[in-house]
Amino acid sequence: MTTTTSRAVLCLVLSVLVALWVNLNEMFVNGDSSIADLPLVQKPKSVLSVNGSVTVAGADGMFPFTLNNDMSGNLASIVLDYGQNVAGFPMFDIASISQSPIEIRVSYSESLPNIKDGDMLFNPMIRAFDLDRVNIHTIEIAGHFDTNGIQGAQRYQRIELLTVGASITISSVSFTSAIYTRDPSQSNGAFSCSNEVYNKMWNMGVRTLQLNMVPPRTVQPGFISTDQGLYISPGTAGVFLKGMSWINYNVSFSTLFMKNGISFAIRSNDYSETRVTLNSLNSSHNPNMIQVISAQELYPYETLYYNTSLPNLVENQWYDVFASVNQLVFKVYIDGALIFDINLPQSTNPYIPSVVPGGVGFSAKKYQSAFIKNLKVVDVSGSILHQDPLTSKQSAHDFGVGTNPVAVILDGAKRDRNVWSGDLLVAGPLLYYSYYANEYASGTLGICTSYQLKSGFVSSRIGTGFPYQTIDPSDDFVTPIFYSYTYFLASLSAIEEYYLYSGDLSFVKEQWTRLKLLINAFDSLKGSDGLLQGVNPNWTYDFYPSLGMLLGRFTKLNIQYAMAMESASVLAKAVGETNLAETYLIRANSTKQLVNEKLFDTNSGTYIISDQKSGIAQDTNAFAILSGIASLRGKNFSSTLLDTMKDQLKSGSNYLTFKNAGASFTSPYISYFHAAAAFESNREDHAFDIINSVWTPMTVEGPYFTNAFWESIEIGATQSASNSFAHAWSGGVSPLLSKYVLGIRPTSTGYSEWVVKPQTGSLTWAKGAVQTPNGKLSVYWSNSNNLFSITVEVPPKSKGTVVLQQISSASCVSINSKVYSIGSTVGNGGISKISKTTNGIEIGLDYYGSYQIMASNCPITSQSKKVVGGGSVINSSFMAILSLDVIIISILSVLFI
Ligand SMILES: *[C@@H]1O[C@H](CO)[C@@H](O)[C@H](O)[C@H]1NC(C)=O
Ligand SMILES: *[C@@H]1O[C@H](CO)[C@@H](O)[C@H](O)[C@H]1NC(C)=O
Ligand SMILES: *[C@@H]1O[C@H](CO)[C@@H](O)[C@H](O)[C@H]1NC(C)=O
Ligand SMILES: *[C@@H]1O[C@H](CO)[C@@H](O)[C@H](O)[C@H]1NC(C)=O
Ligand SMILES: *[C@@H]1O[C@H](CO)[C@@H](O)[C@H](O)[C@H]1NC(C)=O
Ligand SMILES: *[C@@H]1O[C@H](CO)[C@@H](O)[C@H](O)[C@H]1NC(C)=O
Ligand SMILES: *[C@@H]1O[C@H](CO)[C@@H](O)[C@H](O)[C@H]1NC(C)=O
Repeated sequence: MTTTTSRAVLCLVLSVLVALWVNLNEMFVNGDSSIADLPLVQKPKSVLSVNGSVTVAGADGMFPFTLNNDMSGNLASIVLDYGQNVAGFPMFDIASISQSPIEIRVSYSESLPNIKDGDMLFNPMIRAFDLDRVNIHTIEIAGHFDTNGIQGAQRYQRIELLTVGASITISSVSFTSAIYTRDPSQSNGAFSCSNEVYNKMWNMGVRTLQLNMVPPRTVQPGFISTDQGLYISPGTAGVFLKGMSWINYNVSFSTLFMKNGISFAIRSNDYSETRVTLNSLNSSHNPNMIQVISAQELYPYETLYYNTSLPNLVENQWYDVFASVNQLVFKVYIDGALIFDINLPQSTNPYIPSVVPGGVGFSAKKYQSAFIKNLKVVDVSGSILHQDPLTSKQSAHDFGVGTNPVAVILDGAKRDRNVWSGDLLVAGPLLYYSYYANEYASGTLGICTSYQLKSGFVSSRIGTGFPYQTIDPSDDFVTPIFYSYTYFLASLSAIEEYYLYSGDLSFVKEQWTRLKLLINAFDSLKGSDGLLQGVNPNWTYDFYPSLGMLLGRFTKLNIQYAMAMESASVLAKAVGETNLAETYLIRANSTKQLVNEKLFDTNSGTYIISDQKSGIAQDTNAFAILSGIASLRGKNFSSTLLDTMKDQLKSGSNYLTFKNAGASFTSPYISYFHAAAAFESNREDHAFDIINSVWTPMTVEGPYFTNAFWESIEIGATQSASNSFAHAWSGGVSPLLSKYVLGIRPTSTGYSEWVVKPQTGSLTWAKGAVQTPNGKLSVYWSNSNNLFSITVEVPPKSKGTVVLQQISSASCVSINSKVYSIGSTVGNGGISKISKTTNGIEIGLDYYGSYQIMASNCPITSQSKKVVGGGSVINSSFMAILSLDVIIISILSVLFI
């Protein structure tokens, strides 16, 4: 084949592939556009500001607008405001341009203060989304143009015309959605109450989740498999996932530049690499030059080591590239000729070794694209580490930049756009109490466990383009996708929680072999005193890596272990392994005792961070309460500990997540566990104080308002530009409101049994529902004037207990207009019991239907008709005049749906 025909064939193959991809994608995204979905195309709400000569002609005050640059060099720009965070592929309709070509500069930001230059500082080595928050587009003709890189989250978009003396008229700008489209207000779960701020919070939590829900096959593959080789699209980057533990090796491959050139990398993992950029003879950037760059995820992102000229490489021709790296010696040959032989610099960072393991990566700058084929990697002894012609469908997946095979929940919509198992501890409940689209949880959990080491540990960090592995546990996969021990434990607890809410036993069975291996992997961490210690220091980080490695007897690791062993016990029982279930419980019990014996500080009255790290941590103590460890110190100790936490961690109106530990910020993620611990300890006062303090500021319109919750909150008015302002782990307020305030929680798998126990605070009413496998469970309660009314709609195949603690002295209960004595044995009408315990009045309901329940002091007269929130009326003929402790049962009707 001549080069011209070969190029034509390549282009054809490529355009067919891209067309196929777009069709598939559209089919999927457009698939279920019912009325409950948000529009697929998200348009701005208003023009926020303009600068220079800008004409806004449209009746809507936005479109069309014209940016007009005179010759002075003052550039015209416009800032569009979408009113809240939106996500997707940017699209533009250009009505006209005054000359061709012209250039526009488009920037994106979640927050207003950072709109001019974009807001993200982040540089992962594997990515199939648009990393750049500033794009320069060259427009040659008017018409529609769309971009193929997802911009994961922004409220603001700024467009500036760069060409002096030119003008452009734009008739529409928008984003094509790349997220789950169901309108948050139409989610399966629902919540509203007498406090509008909480209603806003609940919806914002769901919106935060939605921005992070990626439907299957939504991510556009960065590398495209063709029978000519692997096509590296502009602006994408991938790393051979199974090679991240390699250190010294020789690599060879062939490449053909489509546009300008390509980059390849050695010692590449998800955090750092040594990158070599090849530029063609007539490249638009650094023509005919080869550059060696140290690249890393965090600042400094790129450091130039070395550059030299290339032997006139042109586009559209295959070249053979050979590189060898041995300790710090790095050589590159092209078509057999040595290009350079250099020594890589020693690391100047005492914490980062000069030789970091990593495999082979490929990437293209925005101005580059290329094909690669015939990849071969050998180790120093000549053994083949990997060999692949790169012409099969699998190739793109091997580099972690295929499309996403399953539905997943990301950590943050803008950053990191990774799946993190630890985040599921909040994102899971947030999903179960709202959309109940449970395949998003099983997809997220399943893809993590599909990467399992022989030791049993499973991945805690997955990129959106990673394939779902089907191989047996393997040591081909290495750090950094195995993040930390606490995240490995989170997988176990999150799978048990998934099972509790969904009832999906088949998923548990499918995972069970892997889970058993994971469960036992933690035995290797037990020291002679029985407590767990991080053996591999690289895995001792936790949710806030800047805190550093948590070496030694790390308390939260031990608490999470005890909790995970209880989860493991539930799962073992579910698959019929009752002996194992018992074994795991014994492990949990003994760890709980050890934590109290050895990791509690009697001076401060709190659990220590670790025996090597001082300070007070919100998470350690909240987990101590949630795990039941704190209450082993005495019936009231949880409540006492909450008071101590408040004394120590509340600073002004803010709850800090650490004190005296070298970090000072508010964590909505950890505050979820803290508030849950307070509700579980019947400390509504404390729980509502956390909710008000942590989440309220994010609901207020301002420069950082995105209608979603932030990853962390800096104390003070200024938030960091690279903070994620839509982080799923911060949406925990929604499950808190549904689970504790509305009061619904499953106590047995798939809601076969449940408890409804409202914790009302000062609210006068709340209503809402949760989705269960057999329909909705709805609750509607109102609380005032010593009358507590609640309507519970029980779905089929489920039974539960309504616990009313509001009117502890109540002596009268009416259910569906019949009055019952407290303590009476009821065995019909779906009511199994009405009793008074230390928890309050407990009413057992064991049949589906609708139950209107009222509890009050006797006698009750005038309150029989009670207007509750939303204006509807709970009707009742609850007119019995009773003397205290006298019981009248008057059966009027029982409703069964
Ligand atoms: C507005 O344009 C002027 C002149 O180009 C420039 O100096 C100024 O920084 C711009 N302001 C904003 C907010 O972009
Ligand atoms: C190439 O390296 C030289 C120093 O060795 C440096 O001055 C120059 O800026 C580099 N050029 C590019 C385009 O990186
Ligand atoms: C660069 O060179 C290739 C062939 O060597 C040619 O096809 C292409 O048009 C050139 N591009 C530019 C911008 O000159
Ligand atoms: C690796 O490449 C170097 C050249 O840089 C060569 O000397 C060595 O023999 C190669 N090793 C193997 C095993 O091919
Ligand atoms: C921890 O990571 C460093 C740097 O990547 C590596 O050199 C070391 O071998 C790792 N330690 C263990 C125990 O895996
Ligand atoms: C674990 O401890 C609890 C009480 O702390 C006890 O009821 C239970 O029997 C223990 N289970 C095992 C397996 O030791
Ligand atoms: C436990 O706490 C409750 C409420 O906070 C209080 O009424 C009770 O007296 C406390 N009991 C003990 C033993 O401190």
